[in-house]
Amino acid sequence: MSEYRVGIVGCGGISRWAHAPFYQKDKRAKIVAVCDILPDRVKQFRDEFYPEADTYTDFREMVKRKDIDVIDVCTPNYLHSEVAIAAFANGKHVFSEKPDAVSPEKAIAMKEAADKAGKVLMVMRNNRFMDVSQYIKQYIDDGRMGEIYAGRCGWQRRRGIPGKGGWFTTKAQSGGGPLIDLGVHMIDLAIWLMGNPTPVAVTGATYCKFADNTDSSDSEHSKFGDAKSDGTFDVEDLSMGMIRFDNGAVLQIEFSWASNIEAEHRFVELRGTKSGMTWMDGALKIFSEDHGVLTNTELAGSLNAEGHVRNLCHFFDVLDGKAEPCFKPQQGIDMIKILCAIYESAKTGREVVL
Ligand SMILES: NC(=O)c1ccc[n+]([C@@H]2O[C@H](COP(=O)([O-])OP(=O)(O)OC[C@H]3O[C@@H](n4cnc5c(N)ncnc54)[C@H](O)[C@@H]3O)[C@@H](O)[C@H]2O)c1
Repeated sequence: MSEYRVGIVGCGGISRWAHAPFYQKDKRAKIVAVCDILPDRVKQFRDEFYPEADTYTDFREMVKRKDIDVIDVCTPNYLHSEVAIAAFANGKHVFSEKPDAVSPEKAIAMKEAADKAGKVLMVMRNNRFMDVSQYIKQYIDDGRMGEIYAGRCGWQRRRGIPGKGGWFTTKAQSGGGPLIDLGVHMIDLAIWLMGNPTPVAVTGATYCKFADNTDSSDSEHSKFGDAKSDGTFDVEDLSMGMIRFDNGAVLQIEFSWASNIEAEHRFVELRGTKSGMTWMDGALKIFSEDHGVLTNTELAGSLNAEGHVRNLCHFFDVLDGKAEPCFKPQQGIDMIKILCAIYESAKTGREVVL
């Protein structure tokens, strides 16, 4: 087992609540440097979590350090590709938060930089690592769902706009609203469970109806990012659409940060020829027919939500040569192509062929 010297870029919400718990537990990784554009934030973060680390406000300086093996990217979305490419140019492995990038071109550039450097690029896919997801993946791979020909997925929030007015709601920095923010989670989970069919066409619609008229929140996730009362809101708050795949399967999608619905839910529902399933807020039900009767199976026991910690653990297992990467950078490129094509379809009102 090797020890990896790690530099973290971005000391906001996700670094604190999802990455720090991993680094505090797994002794393979030693945080030697932390970086944030805000000088007070980076110092406070260092003092609180990694007192031995050096602090930086410029990631380009930090990635030049020869004694760093891994860069962990926890910045706003538009910087993922910029930081990753600078890290690869300096011979580092990269773990990045989702979404992979804000355009297919940038996602491709990240993969090319990783290939050129001969280093590992992995992007957070925490939902794949939950117990329920691992269980249903095995169930599907064992052929017990038959041919999966249709599905739905979504993450609907009634009131849960993250960092309103800040980078989350500023298209140039986020790449979009709930479609890119939440879509990347649930669309990835659905496509991974479906066996990674190739997307061939999409159609979508987006709406922005809550930019000016709500400060209420019923979602813990609205605390993400730094809200700005006089900031920008030029992204959607609701996105709907459909993705077609090369094997004839379709996936309906729905993502909202704010919408007049009953409550927040995230879900994947898949229909197979032998059985179907719903993954709803981390709980799993399977619907089949057995000996002439309809059966519903519900998973008992712990539905742990430690996906982030496990995904980071998997990344270091890959570096250690103990695991094959579950995530391939091409899947990230395909994901960003889908999301950007849905935005294009929403603009033109037409299906976009990929
Ligand atoms: N996997 C998940 O479940 C999940 C959940 C929330 C957020 N995220 C992702 O994590 C990333 C960060 O989100 P967050 O909620 O922590 O946001 P945040 O705004 O709380 O944190 C981002 C941090 O990056 C810093 N930053 C901005 N520009 C920088 C630069 N040039 N150099 C260094 N630091 C810079 C900001 O000052 C801030 O501290 C986003 O890409 C988001 O999509 C993932």
